[in-house]
Amino acid sequence: MSTIKRIWAREILDSRGIPTVESYCQLDDGRFATSSVPAGTSTGSHEALELRDKDTKRYRGEGTLKACENINNVLGPALIGMDPIKQSNIDQKLISIDGTENKSKYGANAILAISEVVCKVASLSQGKSLYSWINELAVEKGIAIGVKIPTPLINMINGGSHGAGNLDFQEFWVIPATNKKFSEGLQMSVEIYQTIGENLSRRGAIHSVGHEGGYAPNLFTNADAFEVFVESVRQTNYSLGRDVFLGLDVAANSFYKDGEYTIRDRSSTLSDDQLLDYYKELIGTYKLAILEDAFQEDAWGSWKKFYAALSDTCLIAGDDLLVTNPKRLQKAIDEKACNAAIIKPNQIGTVTETLQVVKIAREANFKIITSHRSGETNDTFIADFSVGIASDYAKFGAPARGERVAKYNRLSAIEIELEYFKKNK
Ligand code: PGA
Ligand code: ZN
Repeated sequence: MSTIKRIWAREILDSRGIPTVESYCQLDDGRFATSSVPAGTSTGSHEALELRDKDTKRYRGEGTLKACENINNVLGPALIGMDPIKQSNIDQKLISIDGTENKSKYGANAILAISEVVCKVASLSQGKSLYSWINELAVEKGIAIGVKIPTPLINMINGGSHGAGNLDFQEFWVIPATNKKFSEGLQMSVEIYQTIGENLSRRGAIHSVGHEGGYAPNLFTNADAFEVFVESVRQTNYSLGRDVFLGLDVAANSFYKDGEYTIRDRSSTLSDDQLLDYYKELIGTYKLAILEDAFQEDAWGSWKKFYAALSDTCLIAGDDLLVTNPKRLQKAIDEKACNAAIIKPNQIGTVTETLQVVKIAREANFKIITSHRSGETNDTFIADFSVGIASDYAKFGAPARGERVAKYNRLSAIEIELEYFKKNK
């Protein structure tokens, strides 16, 4: 049995130029792994706490030196001598040392950085691919039978708090049909992404790309973005509703204030019921397959109405609503508030707890959407995680910007590896 010899961390930058935590773990057999954690921009208020230094003399208060010190001085030393294969023991120890409900003592960023790096080094020490080791953990919990490459939700346009353009909705996706091979779906999506870019530029609408690599244009309305999608898909000769579908993370927290929602598609502010009517129209017109965070994170009543009206037509995904938290997920199941769960390990803080949330979601027949964050690194843990838990969907941003493409390229590598194993059984 190999044991943990040393765990340490340092501060690095994420894709937005904001500090995050990179962790290292060395075993007594010499094996070594590194991992880094992402961070959100449009974070839900019920997420586990991401520890920031709040020292305004450094990185405008966003430094992560304290989180790194917590790893170097407290959390890392406490795990020395432990078996890295016992992921749940490792995570349980981290949870009990922190002792708070939302990991506010030592920081969910510090705790997850250790949980993930131990998971990685455990896979190395057993000579297993990371996704297959995660799959073993998932099988043990009754979450998955085999591995699966998820269908990607590919981000084409960024708005809200992710884009510098004028759109209110955060992420506009193209979704390849679920029966397509991953590589085929990726290729189609890239061709559509580049066509959308040309069409936006011809209209003089391109501004820049947003945090997740989608174009961040200025358009007349949010729905106009879908008009550009329809035009672009037609030009690529793929068929909307057969080869590809459309979807949306509106991230409603970001256009909600004092009981009202403000979107550029309507001249006056909208109540929850008026927003629901707007969604009915939008979903009907563009045949949206998935809609995420349709209402503000605590508007349970509106979520329930939305579910009752549209759950047969469209997947209703909860992100800021659920925050990968077992209690909030259970409430959403009991109250019939949604039928798909966005899974982000850093919202809860350990690999084991993330697996537990996936288990609860699966047992309630929810679709699983494994997700990156807007502040990412080139770490590809989340790609392996999505395959290991046999996630239905994965969202890793646009097919642009290194930190997004790294995850899609990792899924391609896994696809090739799985095909090789199938042929050489
Ligand atoms: P975030 O955005 O990482 O900024 O929270 C992603 C999302 O809302 O899904
Ligand atoms: Zn979201």
